Amino acid sequence: MEPLATQQLHDLVRDAERAISEAPDINALEALRVRYLGKKGVLTDQLKRIGSLAADQRPAFGQAVNIAKDAVAQSIEARRDALHKAAMQQQLVRDHLDVTLPGRGAGIGGLHPITRTLERLTDIFLRMGFEVADGPEIEDDFHNFEALNIPPDHPARAMHDTFYVERGGLLRTHTSPVQIRYMLENPPPFRVIAPGRVYRCDSDMTHTPMFHQIEGLAVAEKVSFADLKGVLIHFLQQFFETSLEVRLRPSYFPFTEPSAEVDISCVFCEGNGCRVCKQSGWLEVLGCGMVHPRVFQHAGVDPERYSGYAFGLGVERMGMLRYGVDDIRLYFDNDLRFLEQF
Ligand code: FA5
Repeated sequence: MEPLATQQLHDLVRDAERAISEAPDINALEALRVRYLGKKGVLTDQLKRIGSLAADQRPAFGQAVNIAKDAVAQSIEARRDALHKAAMQQQLVRDHLDVTLPGRGAGIGGLHPITRTLERLTDIFLRMGFEVADGPEIEDDFHNFEALNIPPDHPARAMHDTFYVERGGLLRTHTSPVQIRYMLENPPPFRVIAPGRVYRCDSDMTHTPMFHQIEGLAVAEKVSFADLKGVLIHFLQQFFETSLEVRLRPSYFPFTEPSAEVDISCVFCEGNGCRVCKQSGWLEVLGCGMVHPRVFQHAGVDPERYSGYAFGLGVERMGMLRYGVDDIRLYFDNDLRFLEQF
């Protein structure tokens, strides 16, 4: 190509500037830069042709091409800036965050109703001066039955629907074995409760294979049935937060003598009779009695010198009565609609 005349250079710059101002993106702009200013670009090529001009025309031509190159370079820079700004603006719009929108809300967890009931029950006994004891959930025949005056052929074994495990072990059917473990380790006097899980092969609206009990045991010289009655009445009135009626009915447990079943006036109908108390006006809440001398002997306590009382209650049952839950299985279904009510 021949060196261009001044007018042609002008036209070339004008065309270049229009193309640059219309370049849709950085890639298109780069292609235009290569086309005009690159090593083999149109304007670079013009400079190479300067030698073919007469000597007196060279300075003016060189100057004109350099001015043209500067003009094109400036347009490219301006367009590059504009494209950058537009891209940033687009990103700002795309990533826009409205800090005034309400948050998604972090769900706050809560304690399981059984845990709450256990803590509430334990707390009442701690305030009455009881300490907390515990024992293993996998027990042996001696602690769960034998030492509690339930020998192998005793009919009470049939009532316990026991889960047996390997090597003669069993899942404890009540918290009473903790009585034996505690007495073997600790000399009287003492007052303890033993909360924990227990297991029975049993399942319906009021029974589950795993449930919780709290055992109570107080041993000292001259502990009487009146002490037991006083502690239980105070405890039940605290737990249900009313001055309800309490009655003790004669009953039977192999490990206590005498034994009693404790009823409270129905918390749903105040004793008038309803579906929950089967029209009787009373609800059965726990079993209790004076520690049997044979249990003391198995646990190394002198029955001539010491006496004691024991009681055992079902935690799920206490929770059901307190919160009006009519099916024990609701506790274990993990349905948030149920759990969130507590
Ligand atoms: C006992 O387990 C005795 N060890 C209680 C005791 C201790 C009496 C000390 C005297 C002295 P019982 O089998 O009745 O007793 O169970 C006590 C409570 O556990 C029952 O009143 C009931 O509330 C609860 N319970 C029993 N079986 C189940 C079950 N399958 N599911 C849920 N709760 C149960």
